[in-house]
Amino acid sequence: MTIDAPSLSDSEIRTLATRIDRPVVLVGMMGVGKSTVGRKLAQLLGLPFADADEEIEQAAQMSVGEIFERFGEDYFRDGERRVIARLLESGPMVLATGGGAFVQPATRALILERGIAVWLDSDVETLLARVSRRDTRPLLRDGDPREIVTRLKAERASSYAEAPIRVTSNPGPHGDTVNRILQELAAWL
Ligand code: S3P
Repeated sequence: MTIDAPSLSDSEIRTLATRIDRPVVLVGMMGVGKSTVGRKLAQLLGLPFADADEEIEQAAQMSVGEIFERFGEDYFRDGERRVIARLLESGPMVLATGGGAFVQPATRALILERGIAVWLDSDVETLLARVSRRDTRPLLRDGDPREIVTRLKAERASSYAEAPIRVTSNPGPHGDTVNRILQELAAWL
């Protein structure tokens, strides 16, 4: 049995929030829970939250799937980098990024320079269970999701590992993951 370290108290969370001077940027594979975890984390810290994919969709007035389909992945990556660069100028906040963002060298360099990157990691089974709930992800449309997720996770691991903080997201409630991120941030800052 794994016993988690105790969660931070409300006053410890408030103190931590005052020490966060840059965006906390969640990176990691699709399905790991960056958006859900990011929203909860932002709420607890009293910081604004943004989801890079949603911001891209708003800027383009199109879904991520449509952008991939009509203009291709390179075009999406270019827009993704520009949107993330803009969001990184917004001061302390929590920012969830799409799974491929931190794999792009220029986007990764921006995040490492201007944010606090947190790699949310999960095993393939957990990722598959979560991605199967939505079929909006263009990279999973052309093949076997298990094969694609397994391959992308392996290909991307060395990029994600450049994040200074790594937290494992288990199949249980996202609140546990949020608590672990708070603890890691408190130890790191
Ligand atoms: C992608 C992940 C997606 C989205 C796009 C590409 C990827 O975001 O940005 O479909 O390359 O892994 P999520 O990680 O939020 O699913």
